[in-house]
Amino acid sequence: MKEYLSLSETSELVGKSKETLRRWDKEGILNAVREPVSNYRVYKKSDVQTFLKPLFDNNIEDEVSNFEKPDNEYAVLELFAGAGGLAVGLEKAGLKCQALNEIDKWACQTLRNNRPHWNVLEGDIKDFDFKELENQIDVVTGGFPCQAFSYAGKKLGLKDARGTLFYEFARVVTEVKPAICIGENVRGLLSHDNGNTLQGMISILDEIGYKVVPVKVLKAIQYRVPQKRERLILVGIRKDIDIEFLYPKPHKKIYNLKDALKKGPLFNSDVPKSLGAKYPEYKKTILDLIPPKGYWRDLPIELQKEYMGGSFYLGGGKTGMARRIGWDEPSLTLTCSPAQKQTERCHPDETRPFTVREYARIQTFPDEWEFAGSIAQQYKQIGNAVPVNLGQELGYSIIKFLNQYYSLSKPR
Ligand SMILES: C[S@@+](CC[C@H](N)C(=O)[O-])C[C@H]1O[C@@H](n2cnc3c(N)ncnc32)[C@H](O)[C@@H]1O
Repeated sequence: MKEYLSLSETSELVGKSKETLRRWDKEGILNAVREPVSNYRVYKKSDVQTFLKPLFDNNIEDEVSNFEKPDNEYAVLELFAGAGGLAVGLEKAGLKCQALNEIDKWACQTLRNNRPHWNVLEGDIKDFDFKELENQIDVVTGGFPCQAFSYAGKKLGLKDARGTLFYEFARVVTEVKPAICIGENVRGLLSHDNGNTLQGMISILDEIGYKVVPVKVLKAIQYRVPQKRERLILVGIRKDIDIEFLYPKPHKKIYNLKDALKKGPLFNSDVPKSLGAKYPEYKKTILDLIPPKGYWRDLPIELQKEYMGGSFYLGGGKTGMARRIGWDEPSLTLTCSPAQKQTERCHPDETRPFTVREYARIQTFPDEWEFAGSIAQQYKQIGNAVPVNLGQELGYSIIKFLNQYYSLSKPR
């Protein structure tokens, strides 16, 4: 097995930038060494594993709680609802899903099968008018797919964003006028079009009367989710309201794959059996050679070259490729298709992708939440979701904000 890790690989595994790692090296927090043959500055794999262990230590007591009980019934309009990851999380926190919009028929079927009483509006958001919900909704939420604006310079206005799904999100907010609106997205939105896309969104929200709270990227592992997923959160508060929105406090305890799939603090039974995808024969022979927590670098050098092809010679650690997850670490971010190249997340003991129910557990969906459509459709819905527990923690922050708002102003 490979004994040393490059700076890039260590940076990916530890989840810190190379600059931070260089500083840590100077400060003695995590020391690099010289690789005996090349004399490059590298990290001993055992040092990195020892360093990571306490971060994922399961015995840490978690005294952090974001729990907040709603003083009233608060109504949510969830846009781009998918299979309901965020919606279920908000519901668990105590919010009421008044209506949900989603274009994908299988995701809508999932929502209807599990919550027959939810008002699921199936179809393209562009075709819906939400004016009848004006002043009926406390919070509009939505994970609008990220698209560039044709940015003509200066400050972006709402009409310049026409044709994008963010425009639709903002249009619905203007129609419904909630106290607060929350967009969620991938971390990549921070750097999308050199930051212009996000800046454009902030200036549009400002134009339509919403003041944007400093944007934050929340790490799901800090919110009772056994997965290293991140979500960017964009919060707008209606300008007539002078109340601070506080993001949920990060928890100290980090859950791992064992917590996801076995009976324990997250779930009160082992993961139910279910169908799942299989690896093609060649990929299986490759992954058979990878130990838990290992990845393509653990292959013999000739196989590394063969499997990685051109990518072998490119820079970067690519620690997510041909990856087998270990029981005592959180899963890497799940994607919409579990056998796809570059993002393999192999089961720790068996050489196969996670099953549908294992996928759902890693995203903290309850076992009762069933997904409609083919196996591929089910993986897609789960891979697209906001982890339920992250949604729940965010829900507490929304409730805290709304409790304060209604305690200071007259109820609707
Ligand atoms: C990132 S997913 C949302 C995940 C969801 N928030 C959850 O937690 O499960 C984005 C969703 O937007 C939906 N979508 C894309 N274009 C849409 C449109 N024009 N109208 C309505 N929904 C759309 C997609 O089908 C997808 O389910």
